[in-house]
Amino acid sequence: MAIRVVRSVGELRQWRTELGARQVALVPTMGFLHDGHIQLMHEGRRRVPRERGELALSIFVNPTQFNDPADLANYPRDEPGDLAKAESAGVDVAFVPDVLASGSELYPPGASTFVEVAGLDQHLCGATRPGHFRGVCTIVSKLWQLFQPDVALFGEKDFQQLAIIRRMHRDLFFSGEVVGVPTIREADGLALSSRNARLSARGRAAAVAIPRFLAGVLDRCDACERVASRLITGAEQALAPGKIDYVSVVDAESLQPIERADGNMLVAVAVFFDGVRLIDNVQLG
Ligand code: PAF
Repeated sequence: MAIRVVRSVGELRQWRTELGARQVALVPTMGFLHDGHIQLMHEGRRRVPRERGELALSIFVNPTQFNDPADLANYPRDEPGDLAKAESAGVDVAFVPDVLASGSELYPPGASTFVEVAGLDQHLCGATRPGHFRGVCTIVSKLWQLFQPDVALFGEKDFQQLAIIRRMHRDLFFSGEVVGVPTIREADGLALSSRNARLSARGRAAAVAIPRFLAGVLDRCDACERVASRLITGAEQALAPGKIDYVSVVDAESLQPIERADGNMLVAVAVFFDGVRLIDNVQLG
């Protein structure tokens, strides 16, 4: 079936009203779709089969979650390619809001309402990208309000984002369910990300240091190492020539740094290769 492309908030609202009690699975994205996104779509379709409802996608490069204007400007975009991939993946409706001279309908002139989850954003990406999660929560709230999804799907590569969205969903009594989907990886282990497209051939080859480092952490954990600092020892050499933004061992629930890795924990990294910031994580416990 041909994908329906919706460009305005008014048309989106009309689509949702017409759907009535039929269900919605939503995959929110910033586009430049890869197999990780396709996996989210397949999971959405599995949870909401065509006879019960619609699989919806949003493509919007959300300006409020970028604290570096160059990063926003360089974010890769490919709308025709994205729509073709979405259609093959069985997406019924794609919301691709028009970009207007004033910005976007999603942030009307004078928009001054933001959603912030306190605490969970203190460490990891929240520490080095101030305001990032406020932007994420604000746009996800707007999309939730418009789509009223029964399920919305997010990748576990962005572990902190997923944890924060789960908390927001719970605290604000949002309807439906937040579903996390495991990270999809290239054959050499690099986590799929739209940002990988910005790596040079040399940067791409070097970035394999990230999954190798995380595999080493897993081995140390399997060998009963429980001291957090020793789990990640040698990170600088292991991740070179990448420039480390952070390498942290945190509690997987509270996302607070821990000294002893006893319960359910997360080792998360953000590393720059070719000036491109890549993130990944491994859960231990
Ligand atoms: O993960 C992303 O692509 C974005 O942060 C999201 C959830 C679509 C919000 O803009």
